[in-house]
Amino acid sequence: MTTVEKMDDKTFKSLRDFIYEKSGIFFSDQKKYLMETKILERIKERGFRDFNEYAYFLMYSKEYQTELKYLFNAITINETSFFRNMPQINAFKDNILPELITLSDRQTFKTITILSAGCSTGEEPYTLAMVCNEFTQSKAPDWKVMIEAGDLSEAALSQAREGVYNSYTLRNVPRNYLDKYFVKDGENFRIKDEIKKMVRFYHLNLTNDTLMRRITKKDVIFCRNVMIYFDTPVKKKVVNYFYDMLRPNGYLVIGHSESLHDITRAFKIVHFPGALAYKKE
Ligand SMILES: C[S@@+](CC[C@H](N)C(=O)[O-])C[C@H]1O[C@@H](n2cnc3c(N)ncnc32)[C@H](O)[C@@H]1O
Repeated sequence: MTTVEKMDDKTFKSLRDFIYEKSGIFFSDQKKYLMETKILERIKERGFRDFNEYAYFLMYSKEYQTELKYLFNAITINETSFFRNMPQINAFKDNILPELITLSDRQTFKTITILSAGCSTGEEPYTLAMVCNEFTQSKAPDWKVMIEAGDLSEAALSQAREGVYNSYTLRNVPRNYLDKYFVKDGENFRIKDEIKKMVRFYHLNLTNDTLMRRITKKDVIFCRNVMIYFDTPVKKKVVNYFYDMLRPNGYLVIGHSESLHDITRAFKIVHFPGALAYKKE
């Protein structure tokens, strides 16, 4: 059976509304082609005749929950890399971490808790784990860091748990980190267990109230290059959750080209060299 490779406008709008409702990801009219390309492979794989049949299955079949996983894998854009946007990583290492360990209410448990929301294939949380490990080893030996990392895409999470990376995604890793925290694995590099065990990966849908309410308090939340796929109402909802999730004096770090202007005034903007972060005071 051959699949009809074009999607009519009515099906596009129903699929777009369905995806938006389930994930917050919004495909504008201009992105119809992108959605078509991303879903087509899955439609062929499952043997559906056309987009309309697939949309009908998603909306009316009892098995739609299982299919959602594959749909999320198909539509998400997982582009990422280690040490992405160095000024933000430096701000975290040189300003945010040193400040957190001086706070009086953190002294009892001496634990810093971090969330990487939209962690993709793991480069962001592993970068944070390496930086934290360097920091605690040299400046705060009695402190512990716990990192949680969540993503909508199960395919991305499974790569993250595997922890094996090619040299392109490692291109910005400083030499001393590469030598200390990775072992060569054929053409690739495997992250060492001492870093792997600092990060707990789980499925997360930032627009799912039940999942978001389960997350415990955090000192720092990284949610970089994720909310660019959301519209304003979804951004507001997600940022409100982040605000509640943060402990006092905690920080939210979003993508370098993103802004919370028109989204919230609850945070204080703190400027660092070449980067900024949103602080809950
Ligand atoms: C471009 S990657 C960004 C990865 C990393 N934060 C970085 O900046 O390098 C965006 C990630 O957000 C995830 N994502 C998109 N919508 C999401 C949602 N509703 N809940 C959780 N993750 C989501 C995607 O699966 C994708 O892995």
